[in-house]
Amino acid sequence: MNNSLIIALDFATKEEVHSFLKKFNGESLFLKVGMELFYKEGPSIIKELKEQNHQIFLDLKLHDIPNTVGSAMKNIASLGVDLVNVHAAGGVDMMARAVEGLEAGTPSGMKRAKCIGVTQLTSTSEASMQKEQLIQVPLLESVLHYASITKEAGLDGVVCSTLEAGAIREQLGESFLTVTPGIRLKTDEVQDQVRVATPQVARENGVSAIVVGRSITRAENPYKSYTLFKSEWEGITL
Ligand code: C5P
Repeated sequence: MNNSLIIALDFATKEEVHSFLKKFNGESLFLKVGMELFYKEGPSIIKELKEQNHQIFLDLKLHDIPNTVGSAMKNIASLGVDLVNVHAAGGVDMMARAVEGLEAGTPSGMKRAKCIGVTQLTSTSEASMQKEQLIQVPLLESVLHYASITKEAGLDGVVCSTLEAGAIREQLGESFLTVTPGIRLKTDEVQDQVRVATPQVARENGVSAIVVGRSITRAENPYKSYTLFKSEWEGITL
């Protein structure tokens, strides 16, 4: 999990995934399956990717009453994924039930998936958080608060932006995972993300894993783009 580069498979169908993965010549990857793909293809896409020896982050960002989230996580655990998430805004009880559900549903002999809490989406700015969520504290304070209740609930870490990862590690310890989307190379477009950073800044801030989507999936040469991100993330000069 630590030092991983996770590719966000933000595609509509498995056919698009097949043609994307063909460019990686069978390399074993850490892949994020989100709502778009999972709601179209269902558990079969997870089974297929696991058979190809990929690690899977199933990014469904659960947020519902504790009982529903617990039961859903029990079913998700049976898929054998490596990483899952919930919205920290769902509260401590909901998050604790998510972990209980995962433990209950993990097939014997297998490790339970790590579970992380979404703090504030990386597409949220401080101004929109204050105006739309009526959270009248600085964004960093809100993220740190969500991170601390996530830890209190027994989760393994958080989704946050690179810009907050250092403060979270300082407050909650090195073993608490920070998984950060909103990663761009200096030359990339930011698109709808707001709190963005480069792989180098992510490494310097002690981030556990970065998530990269469109900069790789929509690149003219996805494998080349993956290599560029990976080498900057690992601190290797090409
Ligand atoms: O294309 P891009 O690199 O912006 O993709 C980021 C991915 O990370 C998307 O799949 C998005 O859903 C996900 N994500 C995010 N912010 C979060 C949690 C997940 O951007 N807080």
